[in-house]
Amino acid sequence: MANNGVNSSQPIVRMEHVTKHFGGVYAVRDVSFGLYPGEVLALVGDNGAGKSTLVKILSGAYLADEGEIYIRDTKVRIENPMHARRLGIETIYQHLALMNNLDIAANIFMGREIRARSPLGRLGLMNLREMRNKSVRLLEGFEIIVPDPKREVENLSGGQRQIVTISRAIYFQAQVIIMDEPTAALGVSETRKVYEFIHRLKEQGIAIIIISHNINEVFDVADRFLVLKTGGLVGIRRKDETSIDQIVTMIISGKADSG
Ligand SMILES: Nc1ncnc2c1ncn2[C@@H]1O[C@H](COP(=O)(O)OP(=O)(O)OP(=O)(O)O)[C@@H](O)[C@H]1O
Ligand SMILES: [Mg+2]
Repeated sequence: MANNGVNSSQPIVRMEHVTKHFGGVYAVRDVSFGLYPGEVLALVGDNGAGKSTLVKILSGAYLADEGEIYIRDTKVRIENPMHARRLGIETIYQHLALMNNLDIAANIFMGREIRARSPLGRLGLMNLREMRNKSVRLLEGFEIIVPDPKREVENLSGGQRQIVTISRAIYFQAQVIIMDEPTAALGVSETRKVYEFIHRLKEQGIAIIIISHNINEVFDVADRFLVLKTGGLVGIRRKDETSIDQIVTMIISGKADSG
């Protein structure tokens, strides 16, 4: 079976008629789409098109002013980023949202720490050793040269930081991974590594939303493209029914048909 997800009957996530404005500016206006297991949906559009705002609504950073979000047909109100994670939605930001002063293990388990069982009650102290061991095994599983899990995240390269966030998403069995310009701060080989990861996540049936300014870079990995312009949905295209040129034309013209 072709694992492009697009033919799967049930979307993991649906956003319906979602709108968000900041004062008089509509950052996102009446956008609807479904996201299917094992697909990579590329969100594309010029600066200020509303890409980040749209995914921030899904990742719990903003509440939409209007519209609904469904997770497998259940309507949800995503209150905050931790709530989104509990619902299986992990986000990897351009600006590498890790806590610099914490170590790798603490960043992986942040908010979902493993606690030791105390003899009296259930709420024990954090089990640091267990979290560090698990972190090392997790990163080794991705053939990542494991820096000391006690090392502060501040000292990691951009690529290593992205891998830490991606492995966190995998460990906690995310169903949806949102990546907002994940390679913006990365070099060539680190960028390649992130794209390798995206292929692997896809094979596991995880749905990915990726935002990128680089159409050429993202065209290979994407199954569908969602084009935004000044907050509005221009169109959604499957890769097999479009081309880089057509997507670029849609981004610039804001029209679904180039003719
Ligand atoms: N917190 C905010 N307060 C006020 N206006 C905002 C806020 N966030 C976004 N906007 C505005 O909403 C619009 C969409 O912004 P958004 O960041 O979603 O665009 P984008 O497509 O991610 O752009 P870029 O490619 O530059 O990252 C822009 O006009 C922006 O100025
Ligand atoms: Mg953005």
